[in-house]
Amino acid sequence: MGLDKRTIKIIVIVTVTVLVIGGIIGLVLGLLLPYRYVELEVWPRSDAYNYEQPLIHFRVSDSGTWHPWYKKLNEFLKPYETTVPEEPPRAPCSVHHHEQRLPVPNCERALSMWAPCNVDNFYGYREGRPCVFLRLNHIHYWVPEPYNVTVPLSIPQDMPNNIKKAMHLYPANQYGDFIWVSCKGEFTADEENIGPIQYIPANMPPGFPASRLRTADRIPRSDRSLPDLISGPLIAVVFENPHRGVVINVECRIWTRDIVYDRNSRVGLARFELYIE
Ligand SMILES: *[C@@H]1O[C@H](CO)[C@@H](O)[C@H](O)[C@H]1NC(C)=O
Repeated sequence: MGLDKRTIKIIVIVTVTVLVIGGIIGLVLGLLLPYRYVELEVWPRSDAYNYEQPLIHFRVSDSGTWHPWYKKLNEFLKPYETTVPEEPPRAPCSVHHHEQRLPVPNCERALSMWAPCNVDNFYGYREGRPCVFLRLNHIHYWVPEPYNVTVPLSIPQDMPNNIKKAMHLYPANQYGDFIWVSCKGEFTADEENIGPIQYIPANMPPGFPASRLRTADRIPRSDRSLPDLISGPLIAVVFENPHRGVVINVECRIWTRDIVYDRNSRVGLARFELYIE
């Protein structure tokens, strides 16, 4: 019995070749296929944006440290500028300060809905109560299964109360579905340091209106590989009284029936660090 040296050599060569070709095919498919996981984006981002540990760091007393974050948010929000904001507005409609913009009543109303997360308040950075904007990306291949009271079964126990309340206040059959969003301190110490948070616009449900998302069920198949013409709807989170002088780990996530929460996953989950001095 036993294989001679030559046979073993051939087996090894064939195996290695198959593995290499398989790896290359996998890599090419990964790069070519437009499908990517549903991403919850966090803004502002610094130039040295670090996906693993995005850090938002500034000193309230030093405008040189918070002004860049304010400017980054203005850049991010520029594509949303409009004099005819939707009702409710998908984003703050101007990045120009009160003195520098033509007061259009609809936009002024929209900006006040987004307060304090608007340009006039420097998005809260000047006061050490920063706003962070959230947006969904890579959703063209996603058919979300929203949580709503029409299907009350298995609403998760750990779902935050404000979402459960909103689900009853804004029933899906009347207001449409929402992709619910929540943020919290990642660890126990963070929960203590994070202080109260609010979702902005404050008088709206804490979530992305599903009807405004360009998900697979709402766009023609041929559009899936194309970029969106209008930027997706936003939600802001304002940290109303975060502790100063400590790094606060924040975790934000979406709630849908089809995306299972997993701390190690990036699907529908985002984490970042706030460090305010
Ligand atoms: C409610 O949730 C279910 C399950 O995710 C979904 O199929 C349905 O379209 C949602 N909306 C309404 C109005 O029932």
